[in-house]
Amino acid sequence: MSANRPRRSCLYMPGANAKALDKARTLPADTLIFDLEDAVAPEAKADARAAIVATMQQGGYGKREIVIRVNALSSEWGRDDVVAAAGAKPHGVLFPKIDSAADIKAADALLTEAGAPEETAIWAMIETPKAILNIQKIAKAAKRTRLAVFVMGTNDLAKDMHAAQTPDRSAFLAALSMTVIAARAYGVTPIDGVWNDIQDAEGFEAICRQGLGLGFDGKTLIHPSQIETCNTVFAPTAGEIAWARSVIAAFADPANAGKGVLKVDGKMTELLHLAQAERMVSIAEAIASLSHPSP
Ligand code: COA
Ligand code: MG
Repeated sequence: MSANRPRRSCLYMPGANAKALDKARTLPADTLIFDLEDAVAPEAKADARAAIVATMQQGGYGKREIVIRVNALSSEWGRDDVVAAAGAKPHGVLFPKIDSAADIKAADALLTEAGAPEETAIWAMIETPKAILNIQKIAKAAKRTRLAVFVMGTNDLAKDMHAAQTPDRSAFLAALSMTVIAARAYGVTPIDGVWNDIQDAEGFEAICRQGLGLGFDGKTLIHPSQIETCNTVFAPTAGEIAWARSVIAAFADPANAGKGVLKVDGKMTELLHLAQAERMVSIAEAIASLSHPSP
């Protein structure tokens, strides 16, 4: 179910934080991202790598998708991280600081060389100005590689652009939209960046809704308190599911056989709406099938 797998909530946790790795077994996040990069100090990298491998061997993460974020291949830890990640067989390996399609190809070759199973996908951080300028070519690399997911790295992008992170994210709208457009053009799943202010629940909900409106499948998170809101915002509402079911029923009605446009609940409804409705129902069913235990 990789392509339409729910990725509403993708929670980062430092690989060096044993408590967080353990707690994640009971958290209702769709995806867990075990981090070896920004959240781990240089002197803790090797221990964090070993801790992630050990926690994955122990298991207990249920249906949650597991992703390991490695250090950049240009860093002193990158290669060893990829070898360890390949052996741990996560669903995905998240590569930071991707600048070009060549970076995706290098990541792909290294994963294969390290013996990663075919199903292990490439997730790419989109967090540099060069990545935004090259985004179409990067997305197109999905045709020939394991690339499956883009993750916005808005903190790094803000740093490199010398741009301000405002509640409306005006400085990043072009980058966010370009990434979503390129992702959709080539069947890559786009996931939004993090919200740093853990205390600000209202601001967080607003930014989730903005990400949903921009077309993201879900959002990366930094704290368990953000999961529930994110899961709600990025799931179809009861009203949307009811609409989807009535559109599907209307097109399935023999009285409407062969018709390309109908009136459903007073609104013009075309075959493109049927496709949207079917997608919505399949997302809702996929979410229901996850059934995370409550914390
Ligand atoms: N994943 C899993 N569990 C987490 C967590 C996370 N990202 N963040 C906090 N927790 C756990 C804590 O271990 C604690 O568990 P406990 O109740 O069993 O003691 C509980 O949630 C409450 O944590 P809290 O005290 O509110 O936060 P903190 O001060 O321990 O940690 C941060 C705050 C920001 C350091 C922490 O949330 C964190 O490391 N977040 C992820 C950072 C990251 O990975 N960044 C890289 C990508 S941007
Ligand atoms: Mg980063």
